[in-house]
Amino acid sequence: MDTHKQLTIGLFGFGVVGEGLYKVLQQTPSLKASIKKVCIKHPGKKRNAPDALFTTDKNDLLQDPEINVIVEVIDDSKAAFEIVSTALQNQKDVVSASKKMIAENLRALLDLQEQTGRSLLYESAACASIPVIRNLEEYYDNDLLHSIKAIVNGSTNFILTKIFEDKLDFQQALLLAQQQGFAESNPALDVEGYDAANKWTFLLTHAYGIVEQTSNIVFNGIQNITTGDAIVAKAKDQHIKLVAQAKKLQNGKVAAFVLPQFVKQDDHLAFVKNEYNGVVIESGFADKQFFYGKGAGSFPTASAVLSDISALRYQYKYEYKKLYHHKPHELSDDFYLRVYISFDDLKYIPREKFEWIEEWYAQEARKYLVGVIAFKELKQNTWWKENNNSLVVAADPVIEEVETRKLKKKSLELAGIL
Ligand SMILES: NC(=O)c1ccc[n+]([C@@H]2O[C@H](COP(=O)([O-])OP(=O)(O)OC[C@H]3O[C@@H](n4cnc5c(N)ncnc54)[C@H](OP(=O)(O)O)[C@@H]3O)[C@@H](O)[C@H]2O)c1
Repeated sequence: MDTHKQLTIGLFGFGVVGEGLYKVLQQTPSLKASIKKVCIKHPGKKRNAPDALFTTDKNDLLQDPEINVIVEVIDDSKAAFEIVSTALQNQKDVVSASKKMIAENLRALLDLQEQTGRSLLYESAACASIPVIRNLEEYYDNDLLHSIKAIVNGSTNFILTKIFEDKLDFQQALLLAQQQGFAESNPALDVEGYDAANKWTFLLTHAYGIVEQTSNIVFNGIQNITTGDAIVAKAKDQHIKLVAQAKKLQNGKVAAFVLPQFVKQDDHLAFVKNEYNGVVIESGFADKQFFYGKGAGSFPTASAVLSDISALRYQYKYEYKKLYHHKPHELSDDFYLRVYISFDDLKYIPREKFEWIEEWYAQEARKYLVGVIAFKELKQNTWWKENNNSLVVAADPVIEEVETRKLKKKSLELAGIL
């Protein structure tokens, strides 16, 4: 094997990540990787690099036979997919950070890698600096991976930290995140959970061989979390975090979702604050392992891109072991979740949809209940994220079987609802 392959890079994008990579590569000459050309969108912008490096013609990179690696770090998922697929078809290896593009085109990208035999690596797209994809691929055997839960979005984690620790309300915390560069000017992708759910789709592929579209994942963001919810969490000595999780059920299928969640003080994820990300993996014999690091930013993200570039020197490829070498898992809808939901008006809460209700608080303007509900109900309906309803799953939310009939009536009676 040629372990000293010379890498000649064509770089798409010279924004936060692209410029970060340019600087990081200048500080790692031992890598034998050099950027030959950079394709950007707006030629008029001032750049911290020589003018001759830049072009707006993608073919200057994609059709150059000397360029053997395309690094794609642009912010337009449609254009990114075109660039990445053409590069693979032109027999170039590719490194990408574009999580939205990867999630939107997962099946097509899997096919393209098979057809062309080229490598597509995207570690930085998941948790930026945390090497989670390669660990899931190489280290955790299918049967041993019991569960994985993670904070994969730095912006929402920053906002929740400010709501909890500095007692800001949601709007103030969002503004601060934008001022400090942790949230986009249009923050919906992060705040409403799309970014975390996008990442979760391809992490599920590497963890369990599941290939799903984001639209088939149950998810929500933190847009409805109120200071009242934070007060309830504090009273229970817990935090609220946006947690992506997947858990293998007794029937061999996988329960997966991305929802705000109560996190106990002694949970590893409670330690993950501000723009940081964290991943807790629970496996057969090793018990719990915790990965922690910066989930965004120029150099942390560029460091993962650099590591992917470095892996290409020895022709590293994702083998998608759980998909191609094991029997891939399927997602399950057949389980229950223990949830807390706060609301302005009881008319927006279909109480009959709950298997049972365990806690009920109705004394102030903002009311809440804690109950158990079928996951299918959340998948098929949207009332739980409308009309200012705020749903937060419990610390250990997944319940596989319930003796519904027996418990439901009794608990409703106890809650004084029947
Ligand atoms: N920022 C992070 O912390 C982070 C972390 C992980 C992953 N990512 C992902 O990495 C990617 C880049 O993010 P970023 O924060 O670096 O974005 P950014 O700062 O907005 O920069 C985007 C760059 O893409 C260029 N561009 C846009 N459309 C293009 C096209 N059609 N052809 C060529 N260049 C094009 C822009 O060119 P101009 O300069 O000419 O406008 C700009 O240089 C995104 O997919 C993002 O989701 C970002």
